[in-house]
Amino acid sequence: MQDFNKLWMIFKDKFADTGLTKGAFSAPGRVNLIGEHTDYNDGFVLPMAIEKEVIMLGQLRNDRRVRVFDFGYNTEIDFSLDKLIPLRKNTWANYLMGVVDEIQKAEYILQGANLIFKSNIPRKAGLSSSAALEVVTALAIAELNSLKIEPVKMARLCQQAENNFVGVACGIMDQYVSCLGQKNYALFIDCRSNNYEPVPFKDHNYQIVICNSEIQRSLVNSEYNKRREECRIAGELFNHKLTSEILALRDVTIDEFKQYQEYLPEPIARRARHVISENYRVQTGVQALREENFSAFGELMVESHRSLKNDYEVSCAELDLLVDLALKQEGVLGARMTGAGFGGCTVNLLKRDYVDVFEKRIKKEYKKTTGITPDIYITRPAGGAKVLKFR
Ligand code: GLA
Repeated sequence: MQDFNKLWMIFKDKFADTGLTKGAFSAPGRVNLIGEHTDYNDGFVLPMAIEKEVIMLGQLRNDRRVRVFDFGYNTEIDFSLDKLIPLRKNTWANYLMGVVDEIQKAEYILQGANLIFKSNIPRKAGLSSSAALEVVTALAIAELNSLKIEPVKMARLCQQAENNFVGVACGIMDQYVSCLGQKNYALFIDCRSNNYEPVPFKDHNYQIVICNSEIQRSLVNSEYNKRREECRIAGELFNHKLTSEILALRDVTIDEFKQYQEYLPEPIARRARHVISENYRVQTGVQALREENFSAFGELMVESHRSLKNDYEVSCAELDLLVDLALKQEGVLGARMTGAGFGGCTVNLLKRDYVDVFEKRIKKEYKKTTGITPDIYITRPAGGAKVLKFR
């Protein structure tokens, strides 16, 4: 980020030097290529980190206070390590406080710190700006306090922060890829074992393009938790019917679904069909990318969107419009909504030569129908959270 030095100046301006350890850290946002709403069903996902990130500078303090300045929004909060209670105002701070809380609950001993951060990940766009804030906080706190927390554990702590402190029952995907993302690779993550395989995405003829619908739905958290509950109910119903143990929808095959779907009430049956078929699409998609069969991958993206729209019902008119418009453009192999849904972004797979025309047409046509100019981001798979400087 160009204004890295400026951020140091502001840090020095805001906080008196404590003479203790200081450092600079970053964590990226993400876009999910395929595998939506599968992570909390112990399933498979294929996200990549993007070239947008949060940068955090920090220095330890001699006491147990944490002062944090959000440079982008020009707001500051101050809390004690001994009194961590979710805030009703300045709710962005809950992501940080939640992380600190989980690190302490894991019995790491912390000292207070002064922190400042700046993000260029659009907020509430479904590109995991909050997961990136959690991860950069965890990394900053861990490094400043000389704690060695390995990345998968760090991702888990950040996920728990969001589950317990913020109150969103999210899965592990966003925090995982923010911690472990790799330049030029998407990550094929098994959300049961928490292992991953990097899948190359560096073919120069194809490009991932993200379109921001600019729609932000407040419903997202309550509907998200509701979907999670519906999946749990579906899993239990299958567990009664099948002889093998069903711990999550991950354990149900497409054939088993077909055989028993009539026993599932609506909308539970459709929710289950989405998750079970989406897990299959991720695995097939990984194979397609490995074989550099980009058109097969594109088709799976389109199927994924249809399933999210009709069966899982987490899309919205604007996302559907962006997908429809994209699929009418030349050079587009696939398009789908990405992230939790109800607004946010679509992810598109394009032949590189068509990117400029695509951008112009989508902006024009989306604006014609909605009156909104969508933001469009062109990104390669980026690396995960890292230490930028340490003293
Ligand atoms: C949000 C959650 C993730 C995942 C996606 C949907 O981004 O944070 O854990 O469930 O929605 O795939």
